[in-house]
Amino acid sequence: MLEVVILAAGKGTRMRSDLPKVLHPLAGKPLLAHVIETARALLPSQICIVYGHGGEAVREALDAPDLVWVRQEPQLGTGHAVMQALPLLKVGAGGSASVLVLYGDVPLIRPATLQRLIEAGGEGKLALLTAQLDDPHGYGRIVRVAGKVTRIVEEKDADDAERMIREINTGILVAPHAALARWLPRLSNHNAQGEYYLTDIVALAVAEGTEVVTAQPAANWEIEGVNSKNQLARLERILQRNLAESLMAQGVTLADPDRIDIRGELICGRDVFIDVNCVFEGRVELGDGVRILPHCVIQDAVIGPGSVIGPFARLRPGTVLAEDVHIGNFVEVKNSTIGAHSKANHLAYLGDTTMGSRVNVGAGTITCNYDGANKHRTIIEDDVFIGSDSQLVAPVTVGRGATLGAGTTLTKDAPPGELTLSRAKQVTVRGWKRPIKKNKE
Ligand code: UD1
Ligand code: CA
Repeated sequence: MLEVVILAAGKGTRMRSDLPKVLHPLAGKPLLAHVIETARALLPSQICIVYGHGGEAVREALDAPDLVWVRQEPQLGTGHAVMQALPLLKVGAGGSASVLVLYGDVPLIRPATLQRLIEAGGEGKLALLTAQLDDPHGYGRIVRVAGKVTRIVEEKDADDAERMIREINTGILVAPHAALARWLPRLSNHNAQGEYYLTDIVALAVAEGTEVVTAQPAANWEIEGVNSKNQLARLERILQRNLAESLMAQGVTLADPDRIDIRGELICGRDVFIDVNCVFEGRVELGDGVRILPHCVIQDAVIGPGSVIGPFARLRPGTVLAEDVHIGNFVEVKNSTIGAHSKANHLAYLGDTTMGSRVNVGAGTITCNYDGANKHRTIIEDDVFIGSDSQLVAPVTVGRGATLGAGTTLTKDAPPGELTLSRAKQVTVRGWKRPIKKNKE
């Protein structure tokens, strides 16, 4: 049986922000949400989150039925933090549970790595996730004697020889629940930081004859923590690059894998092409052969096969496009469905609209969906042609095959098959002369 404890009570002073550290977004989602998702992938019996700094905001932002929360106040160290969680973890009938400790500010750790750590721990061992770093500064060091781990020493408590050790403690470990319950009350805070170090359980395990084993992550970025905006940005780039790699592995063509941002779930069909500087938010689905041209922002939208979006298009939540739809530059679409082969190629706002097939939306068209208090729908039936610079004041319907003359302000339904326009009659004033600037005397 596996129990997970996520440590998330720390302060995060170096973020210099009012937002609690673990709520800072990475790929559009709080750091802690990434760790919770990874924990869930391991199918544990329980997930307990130790929170503290930032107060209830962290719990309120991420609460879910499968999470147990414990507040650590004050924060007296990582050992003290795990001690708060332990009584909340119900040991199963067999009593042989293992506890996996994760950090809420280490968001890129992969389930496969944790699985290897758990397997290394097996029944009854203490398993540490360690890494070899060129620059181990700041981390706890893994002290070995004749190859066997004997203890962990924190940077601030280490002597010169120990500081030379390049094998570091990532902080992530697996320990038998029963052993933790024995070790934690025996921790002391007689150290450089006056804290109860979780890392001191290693020496206790060794003294008891409990085997201490280690596992390593496949990549060192998995164990990187976020303590500053700089590190947050660094991990964002690594995560985005990983997402881009997996899209390309699925056959998506990216003009530049370093210039795409996915803040949610992007589902792509075959032969999708995505040009530079596009941002995808929420759940976005791109059908076969879709082309996304540069500089688009697309959120919670479904784009039908063969459609072409952008450059500079904005698709907001509730956009559903059928096949071969063209949405061009400076066109915004929100909560609208657009039928096959319809086109809005330049400068338009389509909000709360139901549009049929083969509609041509002229440049500068606006659906006026908001009357200052309520939103209304615009219905545009199949084969409509909307002249440039038209305003459709909702609720309003443009009948099948209708044409709207350029510059129309449509306030009543346009009947099918007819030309409707609202426009002052054009006049020419014959013989009119432009004023001429008078000479100063
Ligand atoms: C800890 C480890 C160190 C390891 C490093 C990896 C200890 C004593 N040291 O050091 O060996 O190399 O992580 O980054 O464990 N936290 C709480 N409550 C507390 C203190 C911390 O929840 O009272 C949480 C923090 O929010 C953070 C994690 O525990 O997510 C680690 O705390 P941090 O202060 O960063 O530990 P380090 O001193 O860096
Ligand atoms: Ca740290």
